Amino acid sequence: MNAAEPDQILEDEARLQLNQDGSLRHLLTLRGLDRSLLVEMLDDAERYLTPPGELPAHSKALTGRTVANLFFEPSTRTRASFDLAGKRLGADVLNLDVNTSSRKKGESILDTIYTLEAMRCDIMVVRDASAGVPAYIARHVKDHVSILNAGESDVSHPTQGLLDLLTIRRHKGSFGNLVVSIVGDIRHSRVARSTGWGLNTLGVGELRLVSPPAMAPDPGEMPFARLCDDLDKGLAGADVVMALRIQRERISDLEGIPGTEEYFSTYGVSHERMKLARPDAIVMHPGPMNRGIEIEGGLADSRQSVITEQVANGVAVRMAVLERVVKSLGAR
Ligand code: CP
Repeated sequence: MNAAEPDQILEDEARLQLNQDGSLRHLLTLRGLDRSLLVEMLDDAERYLTPPGELPAHSKALTGRTVANLFFEPSTRTRASFDLAGKRLGADVLNLDVNTSSRKKGESILDTIYTLEAMRCDIMVVRDASAGVPAYIARHVKDHVSILNAGESDVSHPTQGLLDLLTIRRHKGSFGNLVVSIVGDIRHSRVARSTGWGLNTLGVGELRLVSPPAMAPDPGEMPFARLCDDLDKGLAGADVVMALRIQRERISDLEGIPGTEEYFSTYGVSHERMKLARPDAIVMHPGPMNRGIEIEGGLADSRQSVITEQVANGVAVRMAVLERVVKSLGAR
């Protein structure tokens, strides 16, 4: 779709998602969004959080609008939370069943989009295994349509990045003095990239990317982060520890990747390993989890874990993003 260098593609996407006045038209990547916009989106999401025991927040911000969820890769959290977010804002929400759609008969992605555009969908939420798909669609839709990236290959997962930032901010307040360790399959993780870039924009004290050498990112890809292949060193003194799933669906060559038991003993985040982090450190995981591989099951369910809070914050973040982009759409 685009033969340009990866950095050039990301810069083009960063520009494409903003209107000329700087307002958010699409959400394709956290790269290129400035600090004030990220903070505003986190503040907006806070407004949609309600205490346990209270009913979830609702508003009429999207009344009359239609949100289409197009997930060309599996999802539980992201898809369900965009569905709930749209409904809680009063939108009509269409969840296209990709497996029974005409994509299976060879219809192109753009013809699928044009079909939904003709049905007056305003916001299309797209997850796809191929890099560049959300931006490719964004370049072809009409002015009254917004595209939200719900997970793009190993490149980007911006709403996951935002919900991770919100979760960290709610527990730790500010970012400047924090040590954040992201552990596991960094190379194939769109979450590590989005959360990592977001943390950098918000001025995190130190970001460590801890992985086996075969799962490390390319050198220089996230120049602000410290790469580390030793879990104990990676966890020492950390305020926030995020474990990542091995992204087997994106790994073509398993060479150099430890087997399951060896992986847990060398890179698994456990109660024992967490003694190296700060006593008040929080444990995160974007899900889905493989208990006993990248994280000890009991730790995931412990008081240190904020994994279910991440899920709750995801609905609020998606409500905030939907509300924001709908304000910036052109006339039909
Ligand atoms: N974190 C995340 O994207 O989860 P799902 O694949 O379940 O949406």
